[in-house]
Amino acid sequence: MSDDMAVRQKVALVFGGSRGIGAAAATRLVQDGFAVALTYVSRPDKAEQLVRTIEEGGGRALAVEADSADPAAIRAAVARTVQRFGPIDAVVVNAGILRLATVDAFGLEDLDRMLAINIRGVFLAIQAATAQMRDGGRVITIGSNTAIRASIRGSSVYAMTKAAVATMVKGIALDLAPRRITVNNIQPGPIDTDMTEGHIPALTGMVPLGRVGQPREVATLVSYLAGDESGYMTGASLTIDGGFVL
Ligand SMILES: NC(=O)c1ccc[n+]([C@@H]2O[C@H](COP(=O)([O-])OP(=O)(O)OC[C@H]3O[C@@H](n4cnc5c(N)ncnc54)[C@H](OP(=O)(O)O)[C@@H]3O)[C@@H](O)[C@H]2O)c1
Repeated sequence: MSDDMAVRQKVALVFGGSRGIGAAAATRLVQDGFAVALTYVSRPDKAEQLVRTIEEGGGRALAVEADSADPAAIRAAVARTVQRFGPIDAVVVNAGILRLATVDAFGLEDLDRMLAINIRGVFLAIQAATAQMRDGGRVITIGSNTAIRASIRGSSVYAMTKAAVATMVKGIALDLAPRRITVNNIQPGPIDTDMTEGHIPALTGMVPLGRVGQPREVATLVSYLAGDESGYMTGASLTIDGGFVL
């Protein structure tokens, strides 16, 4: 290893890193030694607060406004990250939305927004980030256990988007294997975040382990997949859901 490589700090970009699972992942990656850029769309306050907390702890972080429904914003977020920290070692594609409605009532606007963020945005984020990624890097998506079993009425579109991610990851893993970039997907079950606010008691009753998960438990898996020890795993979807889909 050259002296330059010995001192170089690894760089991660978390799409949707201002709250919930993405914020926990960003925090964990900083603890693992990464400089972390994180995107947000609606909560600059949360994103800036997280950056401050990371910097107060001695870490390096950058918040970038970037709607994952906007291809140009995705590319700009990658460019800002590289400009500030250098080439990317790991990308976590976490940004996602949940809109529930049964098939008779699902609106076109909601359908298009979910497809744009949860599927197209994931593909474009991986495409843009891996163009600026070092060989041997890491791609991690946050899917959902609904890719395996929809479970809840009104979740058809959400489940469809997350199944698309699980399948997309396999194809991209093949594409990037020659560069030793691994591409893996985490499929959480119910996690205690803003997305599940107000539904925790009902969800708890559906989980065999008798509780919902915490964002840091998903972040631990992100840490593993972003690290050196996971280099032989690619194209995998890892479910972490308290036994929900068993
Ligand atoms: N919570 C669960 O039970 C659960 C279970 C399975 C899978 N997941 C998946 O895990 C991921 C994170 O979920 P969460 O529960 O942490 O959600 P959350 O608490 O609602 O946080 C969502 C995060 O994604 C960002 N985001 C949303 N839409 C975006 C967009 N268009 N462009 C860029 N960023 C965007 C948000 O940014 P702002 O703060 O700026 O809005 C926020 O940082 C999602 O993909 C979700 O589908 C969650």
